[in-house]
Amino acid sequence: MNESASVSPHRTPGKPEISESFTASFGSDPSALWSAPGRVNLIGEHVDYNGGPVMPFAIQHRCYVAAAANDDGVIRLRSKQFPNEAVSVALADLATGAAYSHTREVQAQRFAGWASYVLGVIWALEQVGVHVPPVDVLVDGHVPVGAGLSSSAALECAAVGAFCDIAGVGIDGPQRATIAQRAENDFVGVPCGLMDQMASTCARADHALLFDTYDQRIEQIPLAASAAGYEFLVVDTGAAHGLVDGEYASRRAACEEAARTLRVKLLREVADRGPDESAALVAGIADATLRRRARHVVSEILRVSTAAEALKAADWPRLGALMTASHNSLRDDFEVSSPQLDTAVEALLSSGALGARLTGAGFGGSVVALIETSRLETAVSAVRTSFAAAGFKAPTASLAVASQGARREPLAR
Ligand code: GLA
Repeated sequence: MNESASVSPHRTPGKPEISESFTASFGSDPSALWSAPGRVNLIGEHVDYNGGPVMPFAIQHRCYVAAAANDDGVIRLRSKQFPNEAVSVALADLATGAAYSHTREVQAQRFAGWASYVLGVIWALEQVGVHVPPVDVLVDGHVPVGAGLSSSAALECAAVGAFCDIAGVGIDGPQRATIAQRAENDFVGVPCGLMDQMASTCARADHALLFDTYDQRIEQIPLAASAAGYEFLVVDTGAAHGLVDGEYASRRAACEEAARTLRVKLLREVADRGPDESAALVAGIADATLRRRARHVVSEILRVSTAAEALKAADWPRLGALMTASHNSLRDDFEVSSPQLDTAVEALLSSGALGARLTGAGFGGSVVALIETSRLETAVSAVRTSFAAAGFKAPTASLAVASQGARREPLAR
């Protein structure tokens, strides 16, 4: 399609010259180079830790990790995005990682934020018996950080691939995703589900990934929006979200409490009773907050199945309506939206988007909208105008193109 003037031109961002930068930083060539993408989630929000299905796709923005073993006994990490945050850690110190997992405060003092994800991957690989030797590591890429587009999963998943190559082991995609999640849960201390890492690892170009976290089943669903005259537009509100600030963990705890109240292990089991029976069960939860949280989860799980059917039938208006219903539920029942996210959704819908919703954890970050190609320009101006009128920082808009998951990249000669 013709790129609209006000939509960022990063449809296929270029590959950074990371091999060259690695050599300049460490004085030797990298022996492993992997990239992994960020993601947008089409629908299925805050259900991956409740046994529900999710339907994300990987985006064109990727994170690159170049690495080589060294003889120094020290892990050395550099990032092109954070040039002042070089980190060196003795491998022996990392080996005691288990001792300070779950103690984010300790790690925060020791390692810069991005570095703890990479170190966490080395630690998590060790836990499954994959020994990574001391390595030099350079990170580069263009997944926006703090935009709710899973820059951390992209970093973890690229790192898992690169370190497996260095350790000389082959591990399949779903298992690599699980190792990446373990790094984030147990080393970094963020209690996330598995959606982002699965999308970053297992997504296919031009497909959405329907991933059922209950039985780990994967289905790749063709995503031919452009050919039908539609695009997925991502509006980054610029209001950073913070998964680590306790809100995410408190939502997760509320879901567990609601499940206990309903005497199930996971709220998914309630959704499986069908719309009427599950709604009645949820309505019986005495605590009003828990009731609202459970109502979101159960209704969202049911929406994902319907959305997958709509996508297979190329029923774009139906998919759009479900996306908007998802946003309303996240705003009113799960209470993870923000004034910026709501403003973006409203402006997009009133300028003709078929559907719009916050994507990712919420509390800030980005909105994804399904919109006719011919309306992109108008919609983006409408969002800008609404943000200016509300006194919000100007948002950025870009198209999201369904891209391939984590992959080995050719090393420069
Ligand atoms: C974050 C987490 C995911 C998922 C979403 C909400 O992105 O990393 O596991 O829980 O929030 O759907």
